[in-house]
Amino acid sequence: MSEPFDAVDVIHAKRDKHPIPEDELRWMVDAYTRGYVSDAQMASFAMAVLLNGMSRDEIRVMTDAMIASGERMSFAGLGKPTVDKHSTGGVGDKITLPLAPLVASFGVAVPQLSGRGLGHTGGTLDKLESIPGWRAALTGDEMSAQLRDVGAVVCAAGSGLAPADKKLYALRDVTGTVEAIPLIASSIMSKKIAEGTGALVLDVKFGSGAFMKDLDRARELARTMVELGGDSGVATTALLTDMNAPLGLAIGNANEVRESVEVLAGGGPADIVELTVALAREMLSLVGQPDADVEAALADGRAMDTWRAMIRAQDGDPDAALPAPRETHTVTAPRAGVVARMEALPFGVAAWRLGAGRARADDAVVHASGVDLHVKPGDAVAAGQPVFTLLAEDASRFDRALAALEGAWEIGQVAPERGGLVAERITA
Ligand code: URA
Repeated sequence: MSEPFDAVDVIHAKRDKHPIPEDELRWMVDAYTRGYVSDAQMASFAMAVLLNGMSRDEIRVMTDAMIASGERMSFAGLGKPTVDKHSTGGVGDKITLPLAPLVASFGVAVPQLSGRGLGHTGGTLDKLESIPGWRAALTGDEMSAQLRDVGAVVCAAGSGLAPADKKLYALRDVTGTVEAIPLIASSIMSKKIAEGTGALVLDVKFGSGAFMKDLDRARELARTMVELGGDSGVATTALLTDMNAPLGLAIGNANEVRESVEVLAGGGPADIVELTVALAREMLSLVGQPDADVEAALADGRAMDTWRAMIRAQDGDPDAALPAPRETHTVTAPRAGVVARMEALPFGVAAWRLGAGRARADDAVVHASGVDLHVKPGDAVAAGQPVFTLLAEDASRFDRALAALEGAWEIGQVAPERGGLVAERITA
């Protein structure tokens, strides 16, 4: 069968800043997924997008074409509203773990399709797989049943969702085109819309430990995704949140589960509670419960009950001991003072080097590895007081982790200025 368009015409249009007709853009995505448009042509197109941007309409069409490349799930028959959260990823970001059961405890369905981590940001599935017996792979029917009976599901995204994005993302990764905001927005939103959620809250992070280093670009990405959600019929709100320091006190896998359970028990570090509560409020507002008392559901055990049911439904044992590290190494304060700085990215890299993350997609993670912080920026410390502990299976990993942390933290005399974690809220 002959093809109706020519990829070179589409590339020329974007290169020369002309609008791309809708049918041509849809065809380009489809023909690339089928293998008719080559990697070289798609890479050239992606670079033209990086340099010249895309109109709101083009981004919508691109997203829609990526959704159409695979299956689209629907939870319309559930009889309750659905709402999901997506984070652009950070160090110590375990918010999905307390958030999904917390929101579900208000009678809302939270279908959270997640991934495994690559590089310094950990994956939610890796963290949950620290729990003995817990399984990430669910069939569509198991997912629907769990959403109906428990309300919250965190499971692996099947390969059938937006296969065009999978192919394009791998190509962007090796052609210097990951950073194009229209491509990031369409990539993230195609998967979230295909997943079938009715509403979506985005946690767009900025700062040294985030994908977007500065607030302006994070804002532009958030606006683009909020518009795209609205244009595609998914009510979407975004929070811009600070990712300069690690979130919470645990960076790794098993230790992040332990910290999440502390939050579900009504305790936990203040920043994790702050962000969990802020995101839960946004999610519940989008599904018509703006006055829900989310703090009460953490304090009185309702969110914990849903967590336990969610873990059991996926064959996990919420009471089983989590894996513990064989080796630990604690670093102490060289002098008395106040923690002036703790940079998120080096702590993420250190946890990764200790075995908590993977360098290649088929590597295994070591669930007990990571970093436990004992203090946070702004805390006073005495000389010799523990600042953080490295956790590993094998003590030979400590040197490279310590190298990553050189210059990454500082004991000074003046506490850093501390604003709230949520810098801005972006709505349609
Ligand atoms: N995450 C995604 O899913 N896609 C991108 O393009 C960037 C981050």
